[in-house]
This record gives sequence, C-alpha cells and structure tokens, in this order.
Amino acid sequence: MSKSILPNITKRWSPRAFSSKSISEEDLDLLFKAAGKAASSYNEQPWRFVYAHREDTQNFNLLLECLTEFNQKWAKNAAVLVATVAKKSFSNNGKPNAHSWHDIGLAMGNLSLQATSMDIYLHHMAGYDKEKTIESLNIRADYEPVTFVAIGYLGDKEQLPDNLKEQETPESPRKDVDEITFVGQMGK
Ligand SMILES: Cc1cc2nc3c(=O)[nH]c(=O)nc-3n(C[C@H](O)[C@H](O)[C@H](O)COP(=O)(O)O)c2cc1C
Repeated sequence: MSKSILPNITKRWSPRAFSSKSISEEDLDLLFKAAGKAASSYNEQPWRFVYAHREDTQNFNLLLECLTEFNQKWAKNAAVLVATVAKKSFSNNGKPNAHSWHDIGLAMGNLSLQATSMDIYLHHMAGYDKEKTIESLNIRADYEPVTFVAIGYLGDKEQLPDNLKEQETPESPRKDVDEITFVGQMGK
C-alpha cells in the first residue's frame, strides 16, 4: 500500500461559515486536553486559553469585540471563540521563554487534529486588537495574547457575504516541498 498524508491532516481547512450547532463542554475539554499533550520547551506548557461559548453572550461578546471588523463579520457565528495566550517567562527561573509562541503553535496543531477527527473545524485569527484583548480579557502580567480561534461545525457558505463566499474553500494553494526544504545549507 502506498504511503499518504494522514486523512485528518488532509481534511482540515479553515472555514468561515459555521453551523448553529453548539460544542459540548465535554468535547471542548477533549480539545484542550489534546492541546495540552503537545511538546514544549522545558515542559513549560506556556499555553493558556480564554474562551466562551456563543450561548454565553456576555463573555462571547467580550472576545468577539477584540477582533477586527472583518473577522467579527463571520466569527460571530462560531460555536466557541478562544483567545490563545502565552506565558512569556519560564516559571522556574523567570527568564524569557523565546519559544512560547512556537509551543502554542504545537498545542494548536494538536487541538486542530483532534477537532478534525470530531468533525469540528478551527479558524485561527491574527486579526485582533492586542491592547484591547489584554484589557477586556484581563490578561495577567507576564502573559500575552497570541491568536484568536473560531471553533465550530461546518455551516452553509450561503450565510456569508458575497466576497467571503468565493474564498470558502477546503483547497488553499500550497508550496511544493522543493520550495520549503534545503539539504545542508539554505543558501541565497
Ligand atoms: C496565525 C494565523 C492567523 C490567521 N489570521 C487570520 C485572520 O485574522 N483572518 C482570517 O480570516 N484568517 C486568518 N487565518 C487563516 C489563514 O488565512 C488560513 O489558515 C490559510 O489561508 C490557509 O488556509 P487553510 O487553513 O484553509 O488551509 C490565520 C491563520 C493562522 C494560522
């Protein structure tokens, strides 16, 4: 049998149309557990997650309003909004953890794969106001927001504004392996 990429890696993509179906607290807990299984520098586990279900209107809006206008337009329909937050220093010696964002990426990769296996989809967002997030979500000193993530089940793309409908595709272009790999030295 020929080898291939894991089906859940191929299946994953970032939708903007989410269904109205909620995600149970139990399922969300599984996603966060999967995130927490990631490797991290000195096992610091610098990831923290501030989240709200859509039904929890007050907290959901707190998160939603930190997003850019563009992201708010579609992320308002997510079942859950999450702000990923990094602890900036190591707990044992207070030194800066240069890899905290890297480790959050690993954690979110795990969360994403676990979600895909449960037919749940993620849409990561860098489009948010950092200062507003720190204030509105009461982010502690020595922590910083990294991304927001909209999570939910797939919805009907007809609910999206016209300009977003055409971008709603599971097939985004990808660089070839040749373009991203170098043997020994990177060169010019
Ligand atoms: C760190 C990060 C930040 C992103 N920020 C945004 C964003 O603010 N708004 C948005 O619509 N999509 C955002 N995206 C989604 C990317 O555009 C998307 O992942 C990329 O086009 C590849 O498509 P795919 O995830 O469907 O394979 C972000 C993705 C990542 C990983």
